[in-house]
Amino acid sequence: MAIRKIARMGHPVLKGIAKPVPDPTAPAVKALVADMIETMIDANGAGLAAPQVHEPWRIVIFQAPAERADEAADAAEIFDHTAPLTVLVNPEIEVLTAETEKGWEGCLSVPGLRGAVPRATHIRYRGVTPEGAVIEREARGFHARVVQHECDHLDGILYPQRMDDLSELIFESEARAMLAARIEGDEADDR
Ligand code: NI
Repeated sequence: MAIRKIARMGHPVLKGIAKPVPDPTAPAVKALVADMIETMIDANGAGLAAPQVHEPWRIVIFQAPAERADEAADAAEIFDHTAPLTVLVNPEIEVLTAETEKGWEGCLSVPGLRGAVPRATHIRYRGVTPEGAVIEREARGFHARVVQHECDHLDGILYPQRMDDLSELIFESEARAMLAARIEGDEADDR
């Protein structure tokens, strides 16, 4: 296993259409996925697509941890919003609603920035694991967002290309300041 170099916005490998993987269970796929997981964890990311490590294949990994889940009323909803570390080879997305919602995204290929991106709020996705198992899940909230973000990488799309208002593309340090101000405001409202 090894930590791979992450391609940054502007590199041609991020602009191309990634190739379908002929044999998802090939040893080379397992080796690449192991490197992707190590790279994602090292960079503290929520997801990573193979083109981001200079490998133009249709492979994504992601996690939607509970602490990043949106507010949810019941356990089934919470499950929809969270996902364990997942590997998808040759993933496909089916959008299940016309409803979109804006949320803040970042990308290891666009370091230091955050942008508010509209995404479908409810999707179904399918893919194969390197063990040959088929994964099919419905997802909402952050879980749906991260899958759409990662699969976009396979079609050469970075999140700023999905934005409808570039005034909402801001530096991470400013996003932190904005969030801190908002929390202070909420506390004031509670008094
Ligand atoms: Ni990304």
